[in-house]
Amino acid sequence: MENPFKYGGIVRGPHFADRKEELGELVQEMDNLSRVFLISPRRFGKTCLLFNLIERLNDIGFATAYLDLNAHPDVKSLAAGLTHLTSMALESNFEKLLKVFSGLQRLRPKVSVGQDGSIMGTVEVAHGYKEALPALLEGMQNAESLAQKKGVKLVIIIDEFSDLPKYDGQTLEKAMRSEIQHHEHVGYIFSGSEQSVMLAMARDKKRAFYKLGRLMNLGPIDRGTYSEFIYDWFQKGGYKVERQYLEKILKLGEDVPYNIQRLCHTAWELAREAGEVTPSFIEESTTVIVQQDSPHFELLWRTASQQQKMLLIALSKDPDAKPFSKDFQLTHGIGPSSSINASLESLNRKGILFKTLEGSYQFSDIFMKHWISRFT
Ligand SMILES: Nc1ncnc2c1ncn2[C@@H]1O[C@H](COP(=O)(O)OP(=O)(O)OP(=O)(O)O)[C@@H](O)[C@H]1O
Ligand SMILES: [Mg+2]
Repeated sequence: MENPFKYGGIVRGPHFADRKEELGELVQEMDNLSRVFLISPRRFGKTCLLFNLIERLNDIGFATAYLDLNAHPDVKSLAAGLTHLTSMALESNFEKLLKVFSGLQRLRPKVSVGQDGSIMGTVEVAHGYKEALPALLEGMQNAESLAQKKGVKLVIIIDEFSDLPKYDGQTLEKAMRSEIQHHEHVGYIFSGSEQSVMLAMARDKKRAFYKLGRLMNLGPIDRGTYSEFIYDWFQKGGYKVERQYLEKILKLGEDVPYNIQRLCHTAWELAREAGEVTPSFIEESTTVIVQQDSPHFELLWRTASQQQKMLLIALSKDPDAKPFSKDFQLTHGIGPSSSINASLESLNRKGILFKTLEGSYQFSDIFMKHWISRFT
């Protein structure tokens, strides 16, 4: 049987664990055409949740458009992407779609032939970069009026939304906000993992998106439900497994779905021949993953200064440590607090650590923590 524990991409259908409550809540919010800021640390499953939501929304007759800001390096590309995806979601007839595009002032239709010979209608910004922001706004207006005309609820999902300030900051944000405020046929979900950036965008009075919508924090999947999901798959695969061992996987993975999927995926392969998931296979899974990812960790490690390396070693040994305490600094021979602070900030920028909302620093990837603690 094929390994049912998928990781790294979009996980759907029977391979997607739980999230029933969150899905129900988001469907409800989108039925009310609300605006939601979906926030969680990295690899908690926001993108997977959104793709499963899209399926659900399409089933009940909503039109949906998913945009990932990572895929759009500039406003010009964002304007074209948003206009294209929202129009396509609302108009499936090719001729009519081209007509919609032709009616736009700042964007113009572009017909291209796909690899399979099929003809595709897309859109591009008409005049250079200067026109990019008005083109984006026109694309958004077009989405609203098309949704109204079709009598369909449209949901626009913008993923990696914490990247928005990368464009031209405040001007764009303000213009987008005033456009979104007028929309009566479109629901919005803004999703992002830079928690502090997302919170600042939605909660800071001086920022354009202040109180534009509600915040939804995506937490870990409930342990009981996740462990049932894992148990069922191992059973289906003919493996012998005890529920108590699954708790170990959830703990090792620190409740991050990506980590848990990866541990289960690896344990499935290791235990294939034995047909039984034992604690030693679970232990071994961590070792295997650490080995698989070690080239990546080595590259990251090389970017760290000596002081940063010492700090990482100390944190890998004692994850609950308080780096600013005298005790910690004496034990590990590092300090003073000002340089520790600079190191933590730098490691945060490099993506090796992340700052929790409570202000502590944790490893972005728990397997890197294991990698460090194994070689030191
Ligand atoms: N409900 C779930 N069931 C099973 N696996 C899941 C689930 N949610 C997430 N995963 C696993 O975690 C991985 C990461 O999920 P996803 O990319 O959706 O996270 P994310 O929060 O969007 O991360 P990022 O902030 O880095 O974009 C997926 O590839 C999948 O393996
Ligand atoms: Mg994501």
